[in-house]
Amino acid sequence: MTIAQQSKRLDLSEMAYIDRLTRVGFIELSADAPRCAGIVSRSAKTSGNGGDKGCGFWLLLGGINKLCGIIGYIGNRDAIPEIIAGLRKLEYRGYDSAGVAVLAEEKLWFQKKEGRLAILEEHLEDAPYSNIGIGHTRWATHGVPSDENAHPHVDCSRDFAVIHNGIIENYARLRQRLIEKGHTFTSQTDTEVLAHLVEDCFRGNLLTAVQEVVGHLQGSYALAVVSRKDPHKIVAVRKDSPLVVGLGEGEYFLASDIPAVLSRTNKFYILDDGEMAVLTSEGVSLLNAKGNGITKEVFLVDWDPHQAEKNGYPHFMIKEINEQPRALRDTMRGRIVDNRVDFSELKLDKFLDRVSKIFIVACGTAYHAGMVGKHLIEKLAKIPVEVDIASEFRYREVLWPQDSILIVVSQSGETADTLAVLREAKRKGIKVLAVTNVVGSSVARESDAVIHTWAGPEISVASTKAYSTQLLIMYMLAIFLAERRNVMDSAAIEDMVQDLAAIPEKIEEFLEDVSSVEAIADKYSQASSAFFLGRGLDYMLVLEGALKLKEISYIHAEAYAAGELKHGTLALIEEGVPVISLITQEDLEDKMMSNIKEVKARKGTIIGVTKRDMTETIRECDEVILIPVVKSIFSPLVSVVPLQLLAYNIAVARGCDVDKPRNLAKSVTVE
Ligand code: AGP
Repeated sequence: MTIAQQSKRLDLSEMAYIDRLTRVGFIELSADAPRCAGIVSRSAKTSGNGGDKGCGFWLLLGGINKLCGIIGYIGNRDAIPEIIAGLRKLEYRGYDSAGVAVLAEEKLWFQKKEGRLAILEEHLEDAPYSNIGIGHTRWATHGVPSDENAHPHVDCSRDFAVIHNGIIENYARLRQRLIEKGHTFTSQTDTEVLAHLVEDCFRGNLLTAVQEVVGHLQGSYALAVVSRKDPHKIVAVRKDSPLVVGLGEGEYFLASDIPAVLSRTNKFYILDDGEMAVLTSEGVSLLNAKGNGITKEVFLVDWDPHQAEKNGYPHFMIKEINEQPRALRDTMRGRIVDNRVDFSELKLDKFLDRVSKIFIVACGTAYHAGMVGKHLIEKLAKIPVEVDIASEFRYREVLWPQDSILIVVSQSGETADTLAVLREAKRKGIKVLAVTNVVGSSVARESDAVIHTWAGPEISVASTKAYSTQLLIMYMLAIFLAERRNVMDSAAIEDMVQDLAAIPEKIEEFLEDVSSVEAIADKYSQASSAFFLGRGLDYMLVLEGALKLKEISYIHAEAYAAGELKHGTLALIEEGVPVISLITQEDLEDKMMSNIKEVKARKGTIIGVTKRDMTETIRECDEVILIPVVKSIFSPLVSVVPLQLLAYNIAVARGCDVDKPRNLAKSVTVE
């Protein structure tokens, strides 16, 4: 039984993540504590501070990918300092604005500001004392970072305040209906719709109003509401975006993840999808999606503060690798409609119908995503694509054909070389489409159109979930273009979209048991150099795999098109040199076999990454990492995960600073 299956035996909520580094033991925490089933993992490799050898015991409950931070407080202290302290604990995840709302003397008082928490704190001097309130740090998805777009959002009469984490997919329709009913909006966000909806549904009881609101919503949400019309309570509900209730002594907390309030309590209810919580000074009542009262087991958490901000993971990188299924689902959310790609958010769709050539320009990992984008757009949409690294492209004499377009890919949206290319193209009147993870970034603001990867904040310098969501956007864009240009029939499009939607589950399947990756990482962690081989899409992926290994383990790694081997590289192959070979393209398997045999004839070691059904390849490899079977065109979305994990585990085994590798920055804002 795999560890994941064991955890399912315990029927743990989705918040329980399993330490995949070693064996896992199940224990019942101390007898006098509330009965709580938890997972305690004994790590033979790393302790809480990452990298050390030795055994540490963790209770691993991982928060899933979140776009914003939520805090609620009701109890016997001044609410605002409690809320700010909680939001500060969530700062590590990245945000662009923050706000608070409290109830005092029958009034709703709120303040919200773009920028860091410190800016908000400078504007709290006239905040009233209150024992109840909510607070929020925003990672923008709809609407740029600004005071107006910050949460909390209030209704027309300022009777209700709402904070929200997630994406309301049908907000545009709801907003239109509310405007027709006379509501006035002040922001560009999906969340503001919630405040006006509560106002619209309120008939004296805040809980029933929120229950009615939920019935109108499509999408993901963790939300909290307070009202001066039904004061002394916080009503919260969760669907897809995490929400926990902290149980203090005479005080209760709401948080988007456990670390935010761990300093005040280590007892939590973890809300499941559809569940609601009503917090009052007397206690917490829980309801299921049908509105019936429920009881839940109390989770007792024993993280140390250092582990807390990574939700129990030893590093941000491993947390972000595990967040990829969620990041892909979030990035697809609202963009896969009736088995088609819906990029109606794209202001350029008319222009894209006649585009004659596409240039994709980026740096580093984003460039590797662009390479896959070229392959997909040419194969599916039959549009010529040129892809280049920004630091070279910007000094080339670029021949821009009529109706060509530039696509820039950038996680941070602030990379200097990429920005320089964008600005040069704009000067020449070229239309620019940005693919970026940061709303309101320079790249986003200066482009003609933007497609956001909703991966959530990526903290580790080594890009993982941002890359896989960039890849996803390339797939969706290629399918979108193919349909608009009538070069793919609807049945083929439907099939592709269904396959795409199933990818997160394939990644979760792989992540259920990565013991083969850890074993290989252990065995080869002291190698002084490594080679990566692949053909076609696999070549583009091994470029990313080699970069991951280089940048966090400092092992010299080279990725080669396997066909190039005999044109020079083969001279470097000697006994014991590990050669990571990615073989997922059935039509190139035979060619890869001959390359593998060339390497083995020189006593190189073949570490194969291949699909479970590629039996001939599996037979030929000295070591093998098996990935779930997917159509070869989709394999990049799955095969990148073992490459990321191989780099991660080798770097951990070498005691490297995984999240902050030497000489590197998360965003290269200088040339
Ligand atoms: C990838 O792991 C690196 N962090 C680096 O190559 C990065 O992808 C590159 O600097 C581009 O950054 P951007 O996506 O923010 O533009």
